Amino acid sequence: MCGIVGYTGPNNSVGPIIEGLSRLEYRGYDSAGICLKVENELQIIKKEGKLDNLKELINLHKPFSHTGIGHTRWATHGAVTTDNAHPHGNEIFAVVHNGIIENATTLKKDLFHEGYQFKSQTDSEVFLVLLTKFFNEGNSTLISISKAFSSITGNSAFVILEKASDKLYAIKRSAPLVVGENREFREAYVSSDPFALVGFAPRIYFPEDGVICEGIVTGSEVTVNFYELDLTHSNRYKFQSNSMSVDATSKGPYEHYMLKEIYEQPALIDKLAAYYIKNEGRKILDEMKGFRAQEWHITACGTAWHAGLVIKNFLEQVNHQKASVDIASEFRYRHPILNHGDVGLFISQSGETADTLASQELCKEKGIPTFSIVNVEGSTLFRNADKNFLIHAGVEIGVASTKAFTLQALTGYLMGLAMKGSLDDSLHYSEIKLLSNRISDLCGQSDFIKDVAEQIYTKKGFIFTGRGKYFPIALEGALKLKEIAYVHAEGYAAGELKHGPIALIDEDIVNIALVGPELLEKTLSNVEEVKARRGIIVVVGPKNHPEVEQIADAYIPLDFNGLQNLSPLYVNVALQFLAYHIAKLKGTDIDKPRNLAKSVTVE
Ligand code: G6P
Repeated sequence: MCGIVGYTGPNNSVGPIIEGLSRLEYRGYDSAGICLKVENELQIIKKEGKLDNLKELINLHKPFSHTGIGHTRWATHGAVTTDNAHPHGNEIFAVVHNGIIENATTLKKDLFHEGYQFKSQTDSEVFLVLLTKFFNEGNSTLISISKAFSSITGNSAFVILEKASDKLYAIKRSAPLVVGENREFREAYVSSDPFALVGFAPRIYFPEDGVICEGIVTGSEVTVNFYELDLTHSNRYKFQSNSMSVDATSKGPYEHYMLKEIYEQPALIDKLAAYYIKNEGRKILDEMKGFRAQEWHITACGTAWHAGLVIKNFLEQVNHQKASVDIASEFRYRHPILNHGDVGLFISQSGETADTLASQELCKEKGIPTFSIVNVEGSTLFRNADKNFLIHAGVEIGVASTKAFTLQALTGYLMGLAMKGSLDDSLHYSEIKLLSNRISDLCGQSDFIKDVAEQIYTKKGFIFTGRGKYFPIALEGALKLKEIAYVHAEGYAAGELKHGPIALIDEDIVNIALVGPELLEKTLSNVEEVKARRGIIVVVGPKNHPEVEQIADAYIPLDFNGLQNLSPLYVNVALQFLAYHIAKLKGTDIDKPRNLAKSVTVE
């Protein structure tokens, strides 16, 4: 979602800001802008559309400035226009904002009556105007920030630039924010994501909610100060060295990040197994031995929610423990019954998804422990959880999540085995190795799946069906396809098809049928029902199966032998390839699909 990068230091701020914004492009956005302090003026350059549009403008003006802030906007309040793009600025301040100011309408009305004008339809500009009002009343910049921040409700992060100095100011409430320092080069940075600061700021700080951050660079040193809202010094922040490497973020020989991330899966699976079974992660799993929750409340969004559905099956079938799965935006408002002995299990790649965080908060308020299965160490979800199970996926850049899903589900499986006390080093290590080998084989068949994609990519709609443990995979397969290929795709429980969606079937609809060895006959009868109505059948099913070969118009044969519990993860990779190839044939923007964001920091 929206990305923020700010810089102050001896060099031209434009380079690191644009580089940082480019790195955050993957999160999804629809306009971009930059504000630079040039000779005591706050100069704003912004443009709707891709970052390239902004870069063109910058190339035209070739600005130089020691201090600046940049932003990529994912529209919430106000259409996608240049006026609504950030930064918003005036004679005194410029502001970039992530999140939503919930009381913006009321505040705007009051400010309007007081004679203040607005140039955009955004909620963000309300913060700028508030800041200016408090400053005009004679307050210092720090006090004005404190007062403006105290006046607003909702989750937000702001970075502020002032005409009067080269300082960077930032503050947040339940939104990602990181402040960076490079002592060697005397540079201060601020961003919504540490990834933007890799290679720039070796020292990073995560401020807590309501802490005002101030980055100052003088002739000889760089200082980052933290203040409470009453302007006393604050120690409510966490320091971390930025250990990410720039290499980890390159596309390598792959055409898209998504493809690279699909191919990374076998090696990451092996690494995760080694971490949790043989290395440091073992300690975390051993602590889980014998653990039982009265009920697991699994909560997540998007792909992570589908991983939650897979984990629910593991918990019920492997552990015989009760688990419910919720979409976070529903869980947080449906007044769930949370009892003593229950555990909230939150799954998230980014660890910053607003609804997931709010659901975690709800569990905390009700006094039940919260566990996370998360990729980003140090993320808000991670910091607020009582126990964290990292998935060690590395940076996932493709907006459509692939490797994170596989590793989330696998981590949940390992957690379950550990609770049961049945984590057998060699047995489970080999079981997981079998999964990574099969996925490796599948990676070798990508061209074959491409041929299947060629046969179906022009069709009108796609219905993914599966039973039992393949049902969550049907949902995930359909989500992947709609996310990146912009076609209508639905996931259904195979047995549910006749209760409505079968009405859609004709010769322009494809049924991607996930046919595992379990309940094979029953699933095939559902496929027959579609075939009888002239639907096109693509089976992802067991290899060398004459009945399947006969029914399918196209067939992705898989070797299920020995995989058992983990077979859904294998089937899912076939669907990742299928979605990728269909999207490629359609010519969409695979890594940055329209309208989508990677880290959804608004509810
Ligand atoms: C967005 C992304 C999805 C992701 C979901 C949850 O919708 O486009 O790919 O699955 O957010 O994100 P999280 O970071 O919490 O896993």
